[in-house]
Amino acid sequence: DGLETIAAPLLKWYDENRRVLPWREDPAPYRVWISEIMLQQTRVEAVKPYFQRFMESLPDIAALADVPEDRLLKLWEGLGYYNRARNLKKAAGVIMAEYAGVMPAETEELLKLPGIGSYTAGAVASIAYGEPVPAVDGNVLRVISRYRMDDRDMLNAKVRKSVEDDLQAVIPQDRPGDFNQALMELGATVCIPNGMPKCGECPWKDSCKAHIQSKETEFPKKAPK
Ligand code: ADE
Repeated sequence: DGLETIAAPLLKWYDENRRVLPWREDPAPYRVWISEIMLQQTRVEAVKPYFQRFMESLPDIAALADVPEDRLLKLWEGLGYYNRARNLKKAAGVIMAEYAGVMPAETEELLKLPGIGSYTAGAVASIAYGEPVPAVDGNVLRVISRYRMDDRDMLNAKVRKSVEDDLQAVIPQDRPGDFNQALMELGATVCIPNGMPKCGECPWKDSCKAHIQSKETEFPKKAPK
C-alpha cells in the first residue's frame, strides 16, 4: 500500500517540530480524551485556554460525571457544538458506573461511550495508553491521499476504514501515540489544505507521489457530484 517507509522520517520530523501542548506534557487518559473532543471542531490555539480552565474546574472523571449541566455548558461556552459537552458528561457517568471510574484502554470499549467514534477511540488508546492503533481524522486523510495520490473519496466510510487498516500495518509499536500525533501535526502545519502546502518543510518531500508530480493541490479528490 506504499506506506512502509513513512514512520521513521515522520517521527524524526515530529521530534524536531512538535508543539508543546498541555495535553502532551501530561497525556493522562482523561486529559487526552477531553482535549481530543475539544480539538474536533476547534483549533489548537483556541482550545488551550478552554482546556486549562476545564481541567481546573473538573480535574477528573468523577467531577465531570457530577457536574451540573449549566456549569458544564458555561465551561464549554464559545466552543460550540454543545452536544459534545453533554456527551462528555454522559460518558463520564458510564465510566464511573461500568468501568470503576477508569477510562478504558481498548478501542472496542471506548467506542461504546457516548461521543467517542473511531478517531477519538484511536487517539485515546494510542496517545494515553500506547496501544498500536490508528487515529484517522481529516488531516490524516488529506496527508495520506497526497502521499500516495489516492484518488478515492476520503469522506467515504469504507475508504476511511481502508486507510485505517493500511496505517495499522505501519504504526511503530514503540511510539503509536507520537506517530498518530505526528500525522495530525503534519496535516495541520505542513500538508495544509487549500492550495498551499509547505512541501519544502515536509519529511516526505522525496517520496510523496503528489509532490513529485506537482499535483499536491489536486488531492484529496472531491467526490463527484
Ligand atoms: N488535532 C487533534 N488532536 C491533535 C493532536 N493530539 N495533536 C495535534 N493536532 C491534533
